[in-house]
Amino acid sequence: MRFDEERRGILSDLRQFKKLETKILKFADATSVGIGGEPYCFVFPRTANDLESVMHYLISKQIPFWVIGNGTKMLVRDGKIGRVAVSLARFDFQQCTEDKHTVSVKVGAGTSLQFLVALGIKKGLDGVEKITGIPGCVGGAIKVNAGTRLGSISEFVEDVEVLTLFDGTFKIERLKPKFAYRWSSIGPNQIVLSANFKFKKTEPARVKENVSKYLKKRFETQPVNSKTFGCMFKNPPNGESAGKIIDELGLKGFRLTKRIKVSSIHANFIENEGGACFQEADELINYVKDKVKQERKIELEEEVIKLCD
Ligand code: EPU
Repeated sequence: MRFDEERRGILSDLRQFKKLETKILKFADATSVGIGGEPYCFVFPRTANDLESVMHYLISKQIPFWVIGNGTKMLVRDGKIGRVAVSLARFDFQQCTEDKHTVSVKVGAGTSLQFLVALGIKKGLDGVEKITGIPGCVGGAIKVNAGTRLGSISEFVEDVEVLTLFDGTFKIERLKPKFAYRWSSIGPNQIVLSANFKFKKTEPARVKENVSKYLKKRFETQPVNSKTFGCMFKNPPNGESAGKIIDELGLKGFRLTKRIKVSSIHANFIENEGGACFQEADELINYVKDKVKQERKIELEEEVIKLCD
């Protein structure tokens, strides 16, 4: 009851902001894995002004919130969640400038990597094929330095704009993060808002050919039509594939409960077959992690962020 009242108040305040989109939505319908409960509401700022107004409002009223991307690599708890979900999914502007040899691209955090790859095909952005087939959007991808065996997104990043939350306040600043394998120096209290990329120009046809090749492989080797996080673990520092290790332990297709299992196609994915809850996913992830630790003495690290407070 209290939740509903609080929600009504927040929605009515947020609807005073011109053109700001708000929605009542469960995380189960807003994440790639299809799990998670219901926050007060989702808000979808489209511009930096919108975002700043929303942040000022939430902070001044002391309303708890999460800032999220487009919902990949997130495992959210079930039930009613006394928070506002500030989604950057519509924060997806794009600006392109080019000279003879290079193309500079500035994009909002909510721009999908798929869009960047499509732009790469159109403009001949050299190397963009390295991020083919990774789910998610630019903000989250930069924060974790997403990539494939061919390379990572950091190879093309010039600088980024981040929102830093500190002691009940926030500031927006531009910085050049440090990067390593699936890691960046962007901290847990920082959210990527936009990024500047720089690419060398190449033949669009060559990029297109490579992208098609990698996408075909991805469709053959990953459960692309299921509800998943994408890969759930980082590959370990020894260079092995986490998927291969889990597969070798005989865990492909393994399940603890009815509604969720380790994929039979690629063992670093888990598939929600419909209606799975937070606890089931969490237990399955922990089971796999423990088994790998016991049998192979390797501590796998999750790529998935758990939001359960
Ligand atoms: N393999 C198995 N069994 C499995 C899975 C993989 O034997 O169940 C073997 C494959 O046959 C291959 C090797 O392991 O010989 C490597 O597999 P793959 O090419 O699929 O690469 P990966 O290291 O498992 C990484 C990224 C993926 C990305 C692929 C494609 C990580 C954690 N994952 O997977 O990224 O799509 O390369 O290049 O780095 C993601 O980030 O969500 C993601 C899917």
